[in-house]
Amino acid sequence: MTGINENAAFDVEFIRKDFPILQQKVHGKPFVFLDSGASAQKPIQVINAMKESVYTQYANVHRGAYTMSANMTDSYEAVRQQIANFIGAESSEEIIFTKNSTEAINLVAYSYGRLLKPGQGVIISEMEHHANLVPWQMLRDRAGINLYIAPIRDEGELDMLALETLLAKGNIALVTITHMSNVLGTINPVKLIAEMAHKAGAKVLFDGSQAIVHQHVNVKEIDADFYTFTGHKLYGPTGIGVLWGRKELLEAMPPFMGGGDMIDTVTFEHSTWADLPTKFEAGTQPITQVIGLGAAISYIQKIGYDVIEAHDDKLVHYALTKMKEIPGLKIIGHPYKRGGVIAFVMENIHAHDIATLLDQDGVAIRAGHHCAEPLLKRLHYTSVARASFGIYSTIEEINVFVKTLYKIRKLFS
Ligand code: ALA
Repeated sequence: MTGINENAAFDVEFIRKDFPILQQKVHGKPFVFLDSGASAQKPIQVINAMKESVYTQYANVHRGAYTMSANMTDSYEAVRQQIANFIGAESSEEIIFTKNSTEAINLVAYSYGRLLKPGQGVIISEMEHHANLVPWQMLRDRAGINLYIAPIRDEGELDMLALETLLAKGNIALVTITHMSNVLGTINPVKLIAEMAHKAGAKVLFDGSQAIVHQHVNVKEIDADFYTFTGHKLYGPTGIGVLWGRKELLEAMPPFMGGGDMIDTVTFEHSTWADLPTKFEAGTQPITQVIGLGAAISYIQKIGYDVIEAHDDKLVHYALTKMKEIPGLKIIGHPYKRGGVIAFVMENIHAHDIATLLDQDGVAIRAGHHCAEPLLKRLHYTSVARASFGIYSTIEEINVFVKTLYKIRKLFS
């Protein structure tokens, strides 16, 4: 953990007023939402920004010569610039809108993959979400690259010595690793990974889907080559994600999908491509969702990452302490530096039963393989339960969660 800041001026009850869904009841009990790692709830500011834009400004972007389209284009492109500033990109041309992080990674696997030669290597890790695994298997099968899996240590940290050994094989084109594990909570040492990969002549991609929710990310500071994240975990809407890439890399890569907007000229014989970022944005984009993502980022920036991180640390630390006291409960992963997700199992109780019984008390958690089947297999599980926190999560909610876990324990004993 990054340390607990007890002095953070943060009124969680004030924040909760921005999330209307948190007032709902489930089975007659207050809704305790501990599944932000799967998808976060949306503040009223995000909902209103999207509503307002549809009510007053909606038209397609980059197409019409009329005022409404020009205004919509300005608002849409302003979000691209906002995202560039948010993650410290050199320019907004490096920000590609995608459907989600999965699509962003598929884009890189396809388009950067087209630059790779058979026999070159790509390294992923054992803690990857399927989104950062399957596209690379597909590339391996399509292009004859070697896919290497960097192992983790039992406590859930990346084995850096093993990574070094894999890099020493030579001819590694890319190291693509999650910034924060959606199961173990591990926050990987991305700056060090980038340094090691660059020394070996490889590029790096970091899947920031979980990390950017919990901590400030500056792509230049961590020396990434590609960075991806999704809107819906960041308190924004579904259907919008971001790929950031270094301009020279994106320029060298062929398009991912063909269609409207991404072209410069088209004849029946041949087409040429638009400049960045349009080259990678075929067809009408999720315009309203882009506006929503912009509002979500403004919301986060208003709260501030120092406060978000401190709140997250406080919740994780408290939850871990309380959960460890429950007989027969085992926490999965003990990384040195972690974000707000905690996976666990309970002796003789299936993870799905835990989730179902928690739901009876209004508590929502996720159970299953968490889109990380090989990681679970590595840890000798097929299914685990997971609680994850957001900026609106409270100590009281963790108390309700823990109280129900004791109830479940008793039921099964
Ligand atoms: N990737 C999301 C999760 O971890 C869906 O739950």
